Amino acid sequence: MICYILCILFAARAAVAATATASTSFSVPTYTNPVRWSSQKYNVGAMSRAISVKGKEEYGALVDPSNTYQIYRDGGGSCTLNNRTFFVFDDTTAYTSATSGKLAGFASNSMGMVRDFDDPTALYDYTMSNSVGYFQPIPMSTAEATASKKTSTRYAFWTYTNCVQLSETSAAHFFHVKKYSSSSSSYVLGNTVAKYQIDSTSNIMGVKRWTQLAFANTTYAYGSFASMVVNHVVYLYALDSKYSSSYDVHVASVPADDFWDSSAYKYWDASTSTWSSDQPVPTARRKSSAVIQGTMPFSSGTVFYSEFHNQYLLIFFNGWVDSKFRVITAPTPLGPWNVTNTVIWETSPGKSYNYGGVAHPVFGAQEGATIGQKVRVHFSYQDKNGTTYPKVGRITFK
Ligand SMILES: *[C@@H]1O[C@H](CO)[C@@H](O)[C@H](O)[C@H]1NC(C)=O
Ligand SMILES: *[C@@H]1O[C@H](CO)[C@@H](O)[C@H](O)[C@H]1NC(C)=O
Ligand SMILES: *[C@@H]1O[C@H](CO)[C@@H](O)[C@H](O)[C@H]1NC(C)=O
Ligand SMILES: *[C@@H]1O[C@H](CO)[C@@H](O)[C@H](O)[C@H]1NC(C)=O
Repeated sequence: MICYILCILFAARAAVAATATASTSFSVPTYTNPVRWSSQKYNVGAMSRAISVKGKEEYGALVDPSNTYQIYRDGGGSCTLNNRTFFVFDDTTAYTSATSGKLAGFASNSMGMVRDFDDPTALYDYTMSNSVGYFQPIPMSTAEATASKKTSTRYAFWTYTNCVQLSETSAAHFFHVKKYSSSSSSYVLGNTVAKYQIDSTSNIMGVKRWTQLAFANTTYAYGSFASMVVNHVVYLYALDSKYSSSYDVHVASVPADDFWDSSAYKYWDASTSTWSSDQPVPTARRKSSAVIQGTMPFSSGTVFYSEFHNQYLLIFFNGWVDSKFRVITAPTPLGPWNVTNTVIWETSPGKSYNYGGVAHPVFGAQEGATIGQKVRVHFSYQDKNGTTYPKVGRITFK
């Protein structure tokens, strides 16, 4: 940690480019649900209780009951700004009604506001509905938008994680940048990061991207697997999907106040327990520098501090697509991670396996006195007809 502090002190602060490469703003509905953020310290010490599940509830599809469009979508994560909690989903298709089969709109991401923390399934769709039509909330640059006019060369921005909660009023969210070079061929360029802000008087949400890519595909996609902020320090977790088949998780870190300054980022090397300005280069497996060396491939997940267990939890789905939520634990964001996982919920798959399992600790304070006791989760479910939508549930620990 010594180098970490000194390196930050001496790091030059690069100015953020004055002009965003892409920006947009739009109205959001006013559903406020006050949030209590958990208090955290970096090293929480021993677990206060073992992982043990008391019960789980599946509430059903996350939908807007007032939207007459039939919406299909997948992936996604949640975010909270000014006590407004919203979900951001991936590839979203709307039909004019459940039975018409008439396409009303498509976008590679969409947003829905949580109406009431006590009503687990009800959203308010504000980027795709019969009242607003449809638009993509994560803005594209002019070049990206031009290329995307043809579906065969489009750019898609997909997330499978929650935003990085920089403060109560500001957040950043990572998206994979997928480029279709033809209708049958695509590749991932890397990830991009969007900044969210809500004006709580006008209820206008602004979304900005400063650069096309945050991390190109020649580096690990920090922030795309999971993220956490502890004592104003951001931890961004990345999967090594290529060389470790998603068994290894790497981590980068930056003070929350310097989040938009790429020169302030440090990269963890677990083999020497040091932070460095140099990233481990993914030209081969870098197992010894990984902060977590899993016993099975990870696919999606959420890292957060559970007050109930006095421990950091990683709740995840694995890459073996068995539709099971699992958990591993650590006393600090950097571990040591106890990689012996516990299955905490085996969800029921539909036509195919469930995927995109993500936990939403922000609901915790409402659902129980202690954050981490009752954990809201969502996952992507494909029904028997082959259409996909998010389902929401809750795991209660004892
Ligand atoms: C969120 O709501 C709580 C409780 O009403 C309030 O104390 C807090 O200031 C609010 N936060 C923001 C950013 O509006
Ligand atoms: C990485 O991105 C480049 C474009 O910058 C693309 O040509 C290449 O195919 C991508 N690599 C992979 C492995 O997807
Ligand atoms: C690691 O986690 C497993 C599952 O929760 C638990 O049974 C085991 O005791 C833990 N090991 C240590 C060393 O804490
Ligand atoms: C599947 O499609 C059939 C025929 O359109 C419909 O009656 C049924 O409700 C659909 N099932 C689901 C789970 O959407």
